[in-house]
Amino acid sequence: MKSLKIVIGVVFFIGMAVSLYHLIGAQRASAQTQETGASLSGLEAMVPGNSERVLKEGQHTFRFDTFGDEAWWGDTLHLHEAIEGVKFGGIGPGISPATALSLGLKVDLDALPQSLVQQIKMGKVNLNDPAVTLALLQLKAVVGVTGHFNSNGSLKSVGIQCALCHSTVDNALAPGIGHRLDGWANRDLNVGAIIAAAPNLQPVADLLSTDQATVRSVLNSWGPGKFDAELLLDGKAVRPDGKPAATLIPPAFGLAGVNLHTWTGWGSVPHWNALVANLEMRGQGNFDDSRLDDAAQFPIAAANHFGHVHNSPDRITSKLPALHLYQLSIPAPVPPPGSFDRTAADRGRELFGGKAQCSTCHANPIFTEPGWNMHKASEVCVDDFQANRAPDRAYRTAPLNGLWTHTKGGFYHDGRFATLADVVNHYDSCFSLGLSAQEQGDIVEYMKSLPRRK
Ligand code: HEC
Ligand code: HEC
Repeated sequence: MKSLKIVIGVVFFIGMAVSLYHLIGAQRASAQTQETGASLSGLEAMVPGNSERVLKEGQHTFRFDTFGDEAWWGDTLHLHEAIEGVKFGGIGPGISPATALSLGLKVDLDALPQSLVQQIKMGKVNLNDPAVTLALLQLKAVVGVTGHFNSNGSLKSVGIQCALCHSTVDNALAPGIGHRLDGWANRDLNVGAIIAAAPNLQPVADLLSTDQATVRSVLNSWGPGKFDAELLLDGKAVRPDGKPAATLIPPAFGLAGVNLHTWTGWGSVPHWNALVANLEMRGQGNFDDSRLDDAAQFPIAAANHFGHVHNSPDRITSKLPALHLYQLSIPAPVPPPGSFDRTAADRGRELFGGKAQCSTCHANPIFTEPGWNMHKASEVCVDDFQANRAPDRAYRTAPLNGLWTHTKGGFYHDGRFATLADVVNHYDSCFSLGLSAQEQGDIVEYMKSLPRRK
């Protein structure tokens, strides 16, 4: 009996162990399938939430991140002292809101408290008082400019953001005061005059082997809507024809699907963002581009090792992914109804893709080449001065969506054509197209209609 009990006990035990083994195995297997199943569908489900989070981060970087560049604009050039003026311990009369607006700076209406909006509406805010500019900076309401303050309310330093040049506002409250329009080229902004106001331009003069007075006259020659991103790389301030070498600020929207960026195709969006943040805004990050070691093309960049910038901590590189996604996600805005003649635009579309041959380079709907979007200057019948200031020595086929937002300042890299009609007229003679005046007008209306509403 006793041995039988043991046998039963052992059999029972083995049985339990076996079923337990199977049970655990089955559970493991099912856990495994659940896991892989969950992670696959989970990944897919994560994409929209992830892009939303990354877009917010990118927008914040675009609007508010100085990448530590106040070390240059404030601590080195002392730009903040010109902004606050002598009354707050700086120099000169200071920059009043009226002056700031006339320099093309923009005020973000959504950053203003309702009480201040009411006071502005009733004309009770003294726009000629630099103290009001300081108050706006404290509210983070000056688009693209960040002030750092001392405890007594004076400025300690100042930094700049991408939004300074690539955002404007919709003028909802007053000219220059409204809701942000990210990606729009600020063609009112007189960047040169703003930088020229900085009390200490000796570091720039040293880079260019010249004096501060010369630097100021170059900066003041640019005019609104222009900046020279190549000046501190090659030291070329004037074109052979004596005009300033600065180029127009392009929009930073509608760039998805576009291969190379900038007027002269320096590289991809993340390449240019890294270059701008490090070399133009003078943020503190890392940047590598050995093309800048070419001392014949880029004497200043080569001598100063601008193609090999290393900072610790690096305040830029970790911002590039979100900034990239954000830029590619800003659509080119559709023109307001009634801003172009639809019938003429429809005729213009046929001409654009037909007789006028425009779409051989400006391919619908990205309006640049799908692929290598670069051309020698002679292909579009212009001089190669600006092309030769970039590694590829060519011009990038400019994407045309949203042209209606940047008619101020003209067209082509330096604004040499004042109107779209002048551009079409130029192509008519460049390509011997034989377009009639009406046909040229139709093409202009078509360009004013881009991007077309889906
Ligand atoms: C001081 C004005 C200024 C600031 C600040 C500035 N940019 Fe630009 N940006 C320009 C100018 C001018 C160009 C054209 C440069 C060229 O072609 O040589 C340009 C070109 C670009 C382009 C190429 C657009 C195209 O059509 O392909 C992108 C993208 C861009 N900037 C993004 C940025 C980002 C992101 C920042 C901030 C990290 C920034 N920019 C800061 C003036 C500015
Ligand atoms: C061979 C290629 C090519 C053809 C064909 C061509 N373009 Fe262009 N287009 C370019 C390039 C390259 C630029 C940039 C020039 C510069 O930056 O100086 C440009 C610039 C422009 C601009 C200026 C955009 C801006 O932001 O300032 C407009 C407008 C334009 N083209 C319209 C046209 C029209 C209309 C036609 C047909 C009549 C046409 N293009 C045919 C290559 C071409």
